[in-house]
Amino acid sequence: MSQKPLTIALSKGRILKETLPLLKAAGIELLEDPSASRKLIFDTTRDDVKIIIIRATDVPPYVQHGAADIGVAGKDVLMEHGADGVFEPLDLNIARCKLMVAAVNNAPEVGGRLRVATKFVNVAKAYFAEQGKQAEVIKLYGAMELAPLVGLADRIVDIVDTGNTLRANGLEPTELIAHISTRVIVNRASMKTRHADIQAILDKLGEAVASRK
Ligand code: ADP
Ligand code: PRP
Ligand code: MG
Repeated sequence: MSQKPLTIALSKGRILKETLPLLKAAGIELLEDPSASRKLIFDTTRDDVKIIIIRATDVPPYVQHGAADIGVAGKDVLMEHGADGVFEPLDLNIARCKLMVAAVNNAPEVGGRLRVATKFVNVAKAYFAEQGKQAEVIKLYGAMELAPLVGLADRIVDIVDTGNTLRANGLEPTELIAHISTRVIVNRASMKTRHADIQAILDKLGEAVASRK
């Protein structure tokens, strides 16, 4: 083979399990079970395609810088990272959830600066600026729901699916920022230089998504 293999970056965690059957339908299967391996790079049933499995938040930079040609990541992660250097050609329609503002039940209005805890710092800053509200954004890496309970923040910006995590902690959603699902992204240069290969994969993934509905 003359060309280097096409590299697809997948998010480990909850998206992975749902992504693998779609890739399989598109003719790409891992030769090894990633959950039983410490490997980071996997060969596939296509010898011109390899798969890397990394943190969800690391997928956009790998694709942006061309270390991966194609990536799979949540829209929340893409919104937070920014979309420079990547196309977003396909919605896989999996891991659907909402990005929301939440607070303790019946929280009072806050006069002045709102303290907002989140891992989505850029999204939160942009959202509150757009609302004309002053916000001090505090970066956390998980368990955002704890922050309002211990006086770290007045509001959180986090993912909500069933609402169980909010309810279990005496919180409620207050504003919807965006509907979220998992997207395929493609490096802009790769989309030109390897257009036929990439478009064929996108077409088959698109068919697999449509046939699941
Ligand atoms: P992380 O470790 O970064 O939180 P996850 O595997 O939990 O990664 O989430 C990956 C993606 O799945 C998120 O970027 C988001 O798009 C989506 N997601 C996160 N939480 C939920 C949820 N509770 N229900 C459905 N989708 C979710
Ligand atoms: C996600 C998210 C919320 C929860 C929402 O957390 O950050 O805490 O799911 O889902 P729900 O509305 O159905 O309760 P996750 O389980 O991914 O934990 P982590 O990202 O903090 O590790
Ligand atoms: Mg999570």
